[in-house]
Amino acid sequence: MPMCGIFTYYGQKNTAPNIVIEGLKKLEYRGYDSWGIAYKTDEGLEIYKETGKIGDVKIKDLDLEHSNIAIGHSRWATHGGVNKKNAHPHFTENKEIALVHNGIFENYLEIKKYLQKKGHTFKSDTDTEVIAHLIEEHAKTHNFEDSVKLATKEIEGRYAIVVLSKDEDTVIAARKGSPLIIGVGETKGEYFIASDIPAFLKHTKKVIYLDDNQMITIKDKTAKFFDMEKVEEVEKRIIEIDWDEESAEKGDFPHFMIKEITEQKDTLQRAINQTPETIEKIAKAIEKAKGTYFVGCGTAGKVGMVGEYLFAKIAKKHTNFTFGSEFSNYKNFLTKDTLMIAISQSGETADTLEAIEVAQEKGVKVAAIVNVESSTMARIADIVIPIKAGPEKAVASTKATTSQLAVLTLIAYACDGGVNIGKQQLINTAGQINDMLNPRYEKHIMDIAKKIKNVESMYIIGRGANYPIALEAAIKLQEVSYIHAEGFAGGELKHGPIALISENTPVIALVANDDTKREIISNATEIKARGGYIIGVAPEYNEIFDFWIKVPDVGVTSPIVNIIPIQILAYQLAVLRKNDPDKPRNLAKSVTVK
Ligand code: AGP
Repeated sequence: MPMCGIFTYYGQKNTAPNIVIEGLKKLEYRGYDSWGIAYKTDEGLEIYKETGKIGDVKIKDLDLEHSNIAIGHSRWATHGGVNKKNAHPHFTENKEIALVHNGIFENYLEIKKYLQKKGHTFKSDTDTEVIAHLIEEHAKTHNFEDSVKLATKEIEGRYAIVVLSKDEDTVIAARKGSPLIIGVGETKGEYFIASDIPAFLKHTKKVIYLDDNQMITIKDKTAKFFDMEKVEEVEKRIIEIDWDEESAEKGDFPHFMIKEITEQKDTLQRAINQTPETIEKIAKAIEKAKGTYFVGCGTAGKVGMVGEYLFAKIAKKHTNFTFGSEFSNYKNFLTKDTLMIAISQSGETADTLEAIEVAQEKGVKVAAIVNVESSTMARIADIVIPIKAGPEKAVASTKATTSQLAVLTLIAYACDGGVNIGKQQLINTAGQINDMLNPRYEKHIMDIAKKIKNVESMYIIGRGANYPIALEAAIKLQEVSYIHAEGFAGGELKHGPIALISENTPVIALVANDDTKREIISNATEIKARGGYIIGVAPEYNEIFDFWIKVPDVGVTSPIVNIIPIQILAYQLAVLRKNDPDKPRNLAKSVTVK
């Protein structure tokens, strides 16, 4: 059940395997346990697979033949260990069919048993291999295209697949719930198929968005699209995108994570720059709704939790937050008057998409605060609020987080009739971030990173809107530094967790200059009295701080400025501990499995 990156080339160039490897390198953030390619030669299908990161691969070291059709895959393993046999592409006994897959094939065991009875033998532990055999089984009585159509009908779950057949110069791809975007090449009859646009940006900016339940067949230099639900051919529009390749590259930065942290100088400004119509539309929807749910996962979930506080404080409105994976528990309260505000960087997170499905079945209106505008979420939502942060490649979300926070703040102000006050507040915050992000600031944080780099555990406390930020800070530290980190509501410590504090346990106190300030300082004092080492992230110095990281005094937007030094700290700890901050172990950028 991989989530992974897919890349395909079909065209006149006879270096398809190399083009695919280069494309996969740009998708590595989606999964980096193993990788593989399949390509067509006069003799049939060649398959090459490796474990490890594709980013380290030097094409000249591989002995690949010429070909003008190739498919490839970079894997994030869920079940089926990390080894060559489970790496994609998967293929049938005589290499009749080769296939790459991103998604979850829920009923694969049942179909595997059926196929085994029919004489198929399997080499891997994956669900994907079963799809290849299923297509081959149908191909006994149907042509290639119909066999793929029939196989997809039997797959329960989410998938994006690309299939090659030994006997035909044809590429077939189909999707349901996992992303696939078509790049239309500059020369006639040249196509790219990828999980994400940056993978083919070097070759083309012309794209076709494949929708759910649609299939593309590329044959004789022509692409045809088919709607598998309506059982009919469909016309698709080519859209010219304005992304530039540079924004998807690291440039002079050693890692994407620090590049993206630094970009927050500009991204906040872009996030605020929403059209008045968009803001009005969402504010009206919130006003009309009888019940508003923020839904997201991981970091995007924490942003949703901040949303609850922002709406309570600024818009004086009660809202609810739920993680995508927990949302269905609330389905009895959903009506056509409910509003869901889904928050996601990628727009492809399976748990959030599933929550949207549950909501839409009940007639709930869905708004999406999303970064990837071509994503499934953006395409199925009723209202889309793009955060315009540009490609975020590091697994740890940074610039998308602060942009989502900015957009939510703006909407909360709009709901209170003060959109311009909100805008001004955010413009001021953006300016202060610009001043804050400089080498001196990073160096200061490096001093504390060096001091704590070998600790076993650390804790973060916050109150009010900075409580979810404490949880988010913990995610940042966990995912890239691998240090055990936990966030708590400042007031909760004395109810149990304070027992974890011993001599020199680092505790980060997130302080805002608001009505929570006095109490969070007294919570930090309680920790200090038990030997804790207090790192204060605060606009003003306090004598209880053992180490002070100054942040601008921005009032209600304190969650935005308070998370930034923690992002920097997490990055520096990762580097000091020799972890790859862009591709932390066990994780992937877009979590398309439940
Ligand atoms: C963030 O640092 C994490 N990598 C992760 O929690 C992420 O926020 C979560 O998987 C949701 O992703 P999304 O924003 O793309 O929906």
